[in-house]
Amino acid sequence: MTILVTGGAGFIGSNFIFYWLDKHPGDRVVCLDKLTYAGSLSTLKSVMDRPDFRFVKGDICDKGLVLGLFREERPEYVINFAAESHVDRSITGPEVFLQSNYIGTAVLLEACRECGVGRYHQVSTDEVYGDLPLDRPDLFFTEDTPLHTSSPYSASKAAADLLVQSYVRTYGISATISRCSNNYGPCQFPEKFIPLMVINALNDEPLPVYGDGLNVRDWLFVEDHCRAIELILQKGRIGEIYNVGGHNEWRNIDVVKLILAKLGKPESLIRYVEDRKGHDRRYAIDPGKICDELGWLPETGFEDGLGWTLRWYLDNRPWWGDIVSGEYREYYEMMYGGR
Ligand code: NAD
Ligand code: DAU
Repeated sequence: MTILVTGGAGFIGSNFIFYWLDKHPGDRVVCLDKLTYAGSLSTLKSVMDRPDFRFVKGDICDKGLVLGLFREERPEYVINFAAESHVDRSITGPEVFLQSNYIGTAVLLEACRECGVGRYHQVSTDEVYGDLPLDRPDLFFTEDTPLHTSSPYSASKAAADLLVQSYVRTYGISATISRCSNNYGPCQFPEKFIPLMVINALNDEPLPVYGDGLNVRDWLFVEDHCRAIELILQKGRIGEIYNVGGHNEWRNIDVVKLILAKLGKPESLIRYVEDRKGHDRRYAIDPGKICDELGWLPETGFEDGLGWTLRWYLDNRPWWGDIVSGEYREYYEMMYGGR
């Protein structure tokens, strides 16, 4: 069987490709990726020469290219990871988020309609639900929680989810949606919280903590997310949404302190900086549906997962060293300089 993975040169998409090729020998994986600032062929280096893998550089918004690829490859599964994914960038420049996250999804859905696919899976996010208050630890996001978006990023993802649901109902497309909490693990782009803190700590540079550092995120090791998507593709019900999260809530400041302790670096590196605009307070997933229906459970505890992640960044300095010395420096200066 051939599967099409969009956005496979990014963080979760690349981990999904490694996972799939490992668990499904005999399948062929085609990756379509625009190679934006967040995507890199160096991430896919270990699979590029495999006969069961094909990389295609291209934009999911490019109708001609997408349709041509569907006609040529006839994928059984299409898994859409391709997106602009960083909330801070969506606040300074929302347009590309609407384009890639919404229009790109629309183009993929049209190609599914035209060519037919066994399954289309939309990789969405828990951010579509907005946030929860810190003083109500009893509250969690379920699949029935109303959409209540805070950033252009989350709004573009929610819009795409609604479009997917409309294609299920109107055209009978066999689609599913997953809404996962914060992922961490190897190959995550250095702009995101955990790699940013790890890399700054390794470089003895200040660690910028937004606001009071008390915002809460529900961290999941990336391979657990990949396994959840695999199960949804195989056993998930058409038209359904599945929340994915491991009940692993941490305050940002506590994650920063844990990273510093594990790396043997001093807490004096911590700098509280101006808060993110519209900063969501707390994310917390109720994963009851995917656990009960599909038998999914997270397998990696935070201590282990964070340890492996730190080891990966320590062992792969050339991967992130290239990124942080390039145009990323300008981004960093724009985002953090004088903050
Ligand atoms: P990422 O930014 O690391 O990677 C995104 C990839 O998509 C990059 O390789 C990029 O080149 C590619 N891309 C972007 N626009 C494209 C376009 N128009 N056409 C083709 N390729 C394009 O993102 P990530 O963190 O791996 O997230 C992947 C998906 O998972 C996203 O849809 C995101 O919304 C979702 N998600 C992420 C998290 C998380 O914690 N990172 C959690 C839940 C859901
Ligand atoms: O919940 C799923 C979402 O998780 C995904 O949909 C997004 O693609 C992904 O980027 C992530 O969004 P967050 O905004 O939660 O992740 P980020 O890594 O940007 O920030 C995590 C928390 O850390 C958040 O409360 C903001 C804070 N933060 C972040 C950065 C980059 C800081 O305090 N300092 C920083 O420098």
